[in-house]
Amino acid sequence: MAEQKTKLIQQGAEAKILLDEKENSIIKDRIEKSYRLPELDKKIRKLRTRQETKLLEKASKIINSPNPSSLKFKDQTFIEMPFIEGKKLSDWLDKLKEKQAMNVCKKIGISLAQLHDNNIIHGDLTTSNLILDKNNEVWFIDFGLGFHSERTEDKAVDLHLIKEALEAKHFKNWEKYFSHILQGYKLSKNHKETIERLKKVESRGRYKERY
Ligand SMILES: Nc1ncnc2c1ncn2[C@@H]1O[C@H](COP(=O)(O)OP(=O)(O)O)[C@@H](O)[C@H]1O
Ligand SMILES: [Mg+2]
Repeated sequence: MAEQKTKLIQQGAEAKILLDEKENSIIKDRIEKSYRLPELDKKIRKLRTRQETKLLEKASKIINSPNPSSLKFKDQTFIEMPFIEGKKLSDWLDKLKEKQAMNVCKKIGISLAQLHDNNIIHGDLTTSNLILDKNNEVWFIDFGLGFHSERTEDKAVDLHLIKEALEAKHFKNWEKYFSHILQGYKLSKNHKETIERLKKVESRGRYKERY
């Protein structure tokens, strides 16, 4: 990585998140996995970096998402993007006034509808991958598991993931939150079909748990 003065703000399983205070940018650096063969490991990290960069580039044209700098060299395993000032929604959603929280959820639904209408699947939709800025705008980050798809099934799974995340982390109000997400999601041209499919995804989930 280029020599920059950075501060480590998060060390995850997949990536180190560094803040470059001078540039006000975030560097998401995919870390080496010693259990993989080094050559293969590098290949995987490069591929995931390229995929996430492309999805972020696209998403940032459609919704609030950090627009990354383009990759400088083909071996790159890190992404540089603007630092989004705000709070992780996971820490904050339950502390908001009810009306504000519902408004935020509606915005999540609207942005998700816009992503889906452009065939972008987030793939890891939880409140830890959403940032709330000082104007109460919601930013989508972490497209590390994202992909392109036109399939209703993949879109329904995105809805299912955020629903599960709300149930697990924000259990007091999750039903209200999710119903507001769905309200916002009605903006999607295929919302009826996707919401209908969600029921199937869920019944399959329960089936899996039982047997
Ligand atoms: N562009 C950004 N602006 C502000 N904070 C960020 C940004 N990107 C990542 N972060 C912070 O780093 C954390 C981890 O980043 P994320 O992309 O979700 O990586 P991981 O794949 O390890 O979950 C986020 O939850 C957020 O707090
Ligand atoms: Mg994340």
